[in-house]
Amino acid sequence: MTKTSETPIAQPLRTLHIMTWGCQMNAYDSGRMADVLRPLGYRQVATPDADMVILNTCHIRERAAEKLFSELGRLRAVKDARGGAMMIAVAGCVAQAEGAEIFVRAPYVDLVVGSQAYHKLPELIAAVEAKRAAVIDTDFSAAPKFDFLPEAQASQGPIANLAVQEGCDKFCTFCVVPYTRGVEQSRPAAAIIAEARRLVAGGAREIALLGQNVNAWHGEGLDGRDWSLARLLAELAGIHDIARLRYTTSHPRDMGDDLIAAHRTNEKLMPFLHLPVQSGSDSVLRAMNRRHGIDRFRRIVADLRAARHDIAFSSDFIVGFPGETDADFDATMRLVRETEFALAYSFVYSRRPGTPAADAPDQVPESLKHSRLLELQAVLRDQQHAFNRAQVGRRFDVLFTGTGRHPGQIAGRSPYLQPVVVDNADLAPGTVHTVTIVAANPNSLMATLNQEQIAA
Ligand code: SAH
Ligand code: SF4
Ligand code: F3S
Repeated sequence: MTKTSETPIAQPLRTLHIMTWGCQMNAYDSGRMADVLRPLGYRQVATPDADMVILNTCHIRERAAEKLFSELGRLRAVKDARGGAMMIAVAGCVAQAEGAEIFVRAPYVDLVVGSQAYHKLPELIAAVEAKRAAVIDTDFSAAPKFDFLPEAQASQGPIANLAVQEGCDKFCTFCVVPYTRGVEQSRPAAAIIAEARRLVAGGAREIALLGQNVNAWHGEGLDGRDWSLARLLAELAGIHDIARLRYTTSHPRDMGDDLIAAHRTNEKLMPFLHLPVQSGSDSVLRAMNRRHGIDRFRRIVADLRAARHDIAFSSDFIVGFPGETDADFDATMRLVRETEFALAYSFVYSRRPGTPAADAPDQVPESLKHSRLLELQAVLRDQQHAFNRAQVGRRFDVLFTGTGRHPGQIAGRSPYLQPVVVDNADLAPGTVHTVTIVAANPNSLMATLNQEQIAA
């Protein structure tokens, strides 16, 4: 095991700038890369005028991947202005997918490092410096990278993310993730619990467990047996200073009965679930290889609502998947209307090289994809506003995280991840207080502290 976290700092100070795109896993990984580089003397700075710049990229849709190359164009000018004294590293899912092609399009890139090789950054950087030539490592290592990374720095604040699972074996026909992140791997419970305790010692009160398919987590338990995510959540709920738990992103296929039941029994589990459904049409779901039908999704939602009456849902949708007919799209609109989502992300289908759907003959014309997206987004936006308005008058606990935008304000997060702002309050970050919601703005809720709390 390479444990670099305790290496004494005998290195010259160097500056590091990390840009992150994509999902929360990438954001988590960026933190871990900073952890790996800290013992080498790298300190993070806010601008790209730095000794080392890492671009942690996303490959999920064409537009996400193209951001890398537009950003690289800008960085090249900064590198030139520094007389070439800047190491540019491309990390993340584009690095994994495009590999050495990146050097062809952008020869001033020094290092391409795939999503499973971050623990090797010190030696890769040394190789670039020694060889004065570009270096690439996009191997999927046999052992999970988590085993080789130094312990995560426990300084994320009151709300922290903790990766418990990585990779995906589901091979939805539109998706690059199984190719960019490799097979599903679950971290053992002991490592997760140890990291959670460090996060709590660093001030975390809310922990979100992360994974590309987080509810497929099944890791070695503390008793040596295979644990489910529900069991892991129960164990984490036993850590006194954890006030709130979440997990994301879930797949309907892996929404087991014990996880549904956990929403009834685990009081620290927040009543908010991101459950991507992608489409409301069984035939589209089949073509997407989602391996469940709409009835299953409906049943999960109903069971969860029965387990926890105040639960709310967010989801992801793709419109214009190859072969999607008007009737398929209508089925999606019907599902949205009947489910009533608190929040949703929706995208037009993007053809990703190497994925099966990219070669399907019945691609939907771009103009039709976009008109469907607008129609869907109008309904989803109305549902989100309705959900926010429905909070007015409700009482619930808010985890306060810091000051608000205006003087005297303090801000926090609702159980549903909505920003909540209280005027004229002085509360310590990391504390949980009951509030009453008095107004809903498009992107935040205004609240007053409950009287009994002020008196207490
Ligand atoms: N593991 C999660 C999703 C990961 S990707 C799940 O299975 O639900 C996040 C979202 O990006 C997906 O839910 C999907 O809605 C969207 N997405 C993925 N590939 C896409 C593509 N080729 N075109 C458009 N949207 C895509
Ligand atoms: Fe992609 Fe499907 Fe895996 Fe989600 S489950 S990451 S959409 S292949
Ligand atoms: Fe993007 Fe990779 Fe995440 S493709 S969505 S950064 S797993």
